Amino acid sequence: LVASLEQVQQTYIMVKPDGVQRGLVGEIISRFERKGFKLIGLKLFQCPKELAEEHYKDLKAKPFYPKLIDYITSGPVVCMAWEGVGVVLSARKLIGSTDPLQAEPGTIRGDLAVQTGRNVVHGSDSPENGKRETALWFKEGELCQWTPAQAPWLQ
Ligand code: TYD
Repeated sequence: LVASLEQVQQTYIMVKPDGVQRGLVGEIISRFERKGFKLIGLKLFQCPKELAEEHYKDLKAKPFYPKLIDYITSGPVVCMAWEGVGVVLSARKLIGSTDPLQAEPGTIRGDLAVQTGRNVVHGSDSPENGKRETALWFKEGELCQWTPAQAPWLQ
């Protein structure tokens, strides 16, 4: 577990339709930027039903599943892939508990949301799902692998 926390990982983060409609895109992106993770993919996207169903396939049997699919496809989402050491768990901490009323103040959901069914943001729950979801939502060529420039004023 300790080793996996220290590995460079990728995670899929998504501003859900309520976050876009409430004008929270910049606020949410900025929390991951300020933490120090690297943005490697970003797009505004109207999610087709089939993709929402594939993304949430593990929840298919849940009573809230049909409403969840309607919600995620109800308007554009902002898809993001973030990279960094331990980014999967750290992003989950920045996001907070699934139920925004249980989420700690200081987290995205704790600060910005009230309802579980309108909890403004998604984050992958494991390194495996980080890879799976990034590959599901982004085509090859939509991700950028980049390194920050060396401080040019020192050269
Ligand atoms: P889940 O994967 O359990 O939570 P998280 O997004 O924190 O990883 O559930 C996926 C989404 O399903 C969750 O963000 C909101 C929705 N949902 C409900 O609408 N009602 C519920 O009771 C639960 C558990 C989730």
